[in-house]
Amino acid sequence: MHVTHLSLADFRSYARVEVPLDPGVTAFVGANGQGKTNLVEAVGYLATLGSHRVSSDAPLVRMGAERAVIRAAVTQGERSQLVELELNPGRANRARINRSSQVRPRDVLGIVRTVLFAPEDLALVKGDPGERRRFLDELVTARSPRMAGVRSDYERVLKQRNTLLKSAAMARRHGGRSLDLSTLDVWDQHLGQVGAELLAQRLDLIATLQPLADKAYADVAPGGGPVTLEYRSSVGAEVGPARTREELYAQLIEALAGVRKQEIERGVTLVGPHRDDLVLGLRSMPAKGYASHGESWSYALALRLASYELLRGEGNEPVLVLDDVFAELDARRRERLAELVAPGEQVLVTAAVGEDVPGVLAGARYAVSAGEVERL
Ligand SMILES: Nc1ncnc2c1ncn2[C@@H]1O[C@H](COP(=O)(O)OP(=O)(O)OP(=O)(O)O)[C@@H](O)[C@H]1O
Ligand SMILES: [Mg+2]
Repeated sequence: MHVTHLSLADFRSYARVEVPLDPGVTAFVGANGQGKTNLVEAVGYLATLGSHRVSSDAPLVRMGAERAVIRAAVTQGERSQLVELELNPGRANRARINRSSQVRPRDVLGIVRTVLFAPEDLALVKGDPGERRRFLDELVTARSPRMAGVRSDYERVLKQRNTLLKSAAMARRHGGRSLDLSTLDVWDQHLGQVGAELLAQRLDLIATLQPLADKAYADVAPGGGPVTLEYRSSVGAEVGPARTREELYAQLIEALAGVRKQEIERGVTLVGPHRDDLVLGLRSMPAKGYASHGESWSYALALRLASYELLRGEGNEPVLVLDDVFAELDARRRERLAELVAPGEQVLVTAAVGEDVPGVLAGARYAVSAGEVERL
């Protein structure tokens, strides 16, 4: 798919901007702080309902404005659609498809698909497990938009179960009424059901992504690999891609039973997909804590390129966004990366310096300056 028009109102630094887009490569060039990343961040938001830079919507709304609107015209094969999201920090966001009356924001997922690589992605390698869980879950959702529902069900069940455990922990400390264990059993089953589904999808994703990540790393940093992706589950070492959903459910229930005493003491859910990690290995060492800065950067890029290959291979081709990538690379790697991504259906690139964008990526160019986006 590709975006044919992007329109923003009160989004970040933009009061209003209209950006017509072609398939192929488009580069946004301009000095620091002019609004290049803001443009691609908006495209990414349509694909994930979140920003790659901030975890809340408030900073996305132009300072002083009440709400932001992101609108995009999207073409996939013969089909064109118009998607619109209105961001209302502190209140529910609103969505429309083809100007029709409102749909849930979640219903928009799958229309715009992106793989976005940005400097923030270094946190995938160096950061907390939560960064890698988000990476997995966003990709799981890009493969199968209905997983957005499973993820939010999981969050909800987890929150309610934690509330129950917390009140049990309080009651225990203050000699109050003890917890009705049958209630907890019911929550275990809920958590087990949605948790097993999420686990199954993550495990399947990792198995599919592994060879692609290894290949992408070899492309980005020749001879520097191999890379391995290993799921480390709080549920236990036996959790693996060969397990059926039913087995994963049983394992999750068993693991919950095993920690129940501690959970009631501490008032929090100790096992489940929310406590898991993706261990990124590089030459048989964990990249986190061992890999150099350049290696970590190449690794993060390889994970994104692998994601791109995976989604491409599964049908609807995503838009590839490369935010500030080329300045980090030496000339040879720059050329390699450019050759790799040049055939993409739509590639959006940002760069502070135009010369950093390799010549193979000839395409449309926009100058971005003080919130004005002008075609060159
Ligand atoms: N909510 C907001 N309201 C108004 N301005 C904002 C808001 N959020 C960010 N900005 C402004 O947007 C600008 C940053 O834009 P952006 O991140 O797109 O820059 P960039 O062109 O990508 O720069 P760089 O080359 O440094 O990456 C900053 O000057 C910032 O002050
Ligand atoms: Mg930027």
